Amino acid sequence: MEIIILPTAEEASEVAARLVARQVLEKPESVLGLATGSTPCRLYQSLARKHHSEALDFSRITSFNLDEYVGLDPAHPATYHRFMEENLFSKVNLARERIHIPDGLAADVPAHCAAYEQAIRDAGGIDLQILGLGADGHLGFNEPGSSLASRTRIKTLTEGTRRDNARFFTSSQDVPHHVITMGLGTIMDSRMCLLLAFGKGKAAAVAASVEGSVTASVPGSLLQFHPRAKVLLDVDAASELTRADYYQWVYHNKPAWQTDL
Ligand code: F6R
Repeated sequence: MEIIILPTAEEASEVAARLVARQVLEKPESVLGLATGSTPCRLYQSLARKHHSEALDFSRITSFNLDEYVGLDPAHPATYHRFMEENLFSKVNLARERIHIPDGLAADVPAHCAAYEQAIRDAGGIDLQILGLGADGHLGFNEPGSSLASRTRIKTLTEGTRRDNARFFTSSQDVPHHVITMGLGTIMDSRMCLLLAFGKGKAAAVAASVEGSVTASVPGSLLQFHPRAKVLLDVDAASELTRADYYQWVYHNKPAWQTDL
């Protein structure tokens, strides 16, 4: 794991955008794994800017979103279909036929999940997976206790996550209990993971994920086993890390040949 701590979420998102842009430039037919929620919004804004001002071309990119609520019409304002449309898809030139988001209205959920996994394999696997982190350490919607080998499937949200996400709904009762999410095994198969976390509310989950034991109780900790995971934090999210000074020193003193941003 490489831990990158920057003063603000804006700066950390800018570094994330440069990493995604580099991936797209080096391999224009890359497969990107996409996250939703508050965390990646600035990253998506920056990618949209790069598309317009630097002609960053997404036309050959394939994308797979991590998750979607079960039972909501795709037009519902809180779906991740709508989120992605508003925050990224309407702003860059991704080809519609290469965009994939789990279908929360699938009639046969297990068959849909198996087909989603197959589509990821058919696309050649995910090159770069963007991730946020739940305050309880979840990745995607793999809540604490999720199997470390899990694949795309239906999951039940914890009450804590439903409360955290109530801000996107008119009433907290409207937050669905069920979601379809890529599994932890699916996420671990991606060639590179970029985990973003901002704000004090994430500090405990970040510390447990980065410096705690690897455990299903903290899904984010599984990234310690990922061969190429970068964790981008603002100072608040990094505030409970015991080795923060060391990570900062390492990042700011990389040998020139190792500097990739
Ligand atoms: C969203 C997702 C979730 C969020 C996490 C953090 O696609 O997979 O794991 O990344 O719940 O949400 P925010 O960014 O809203 O704090």
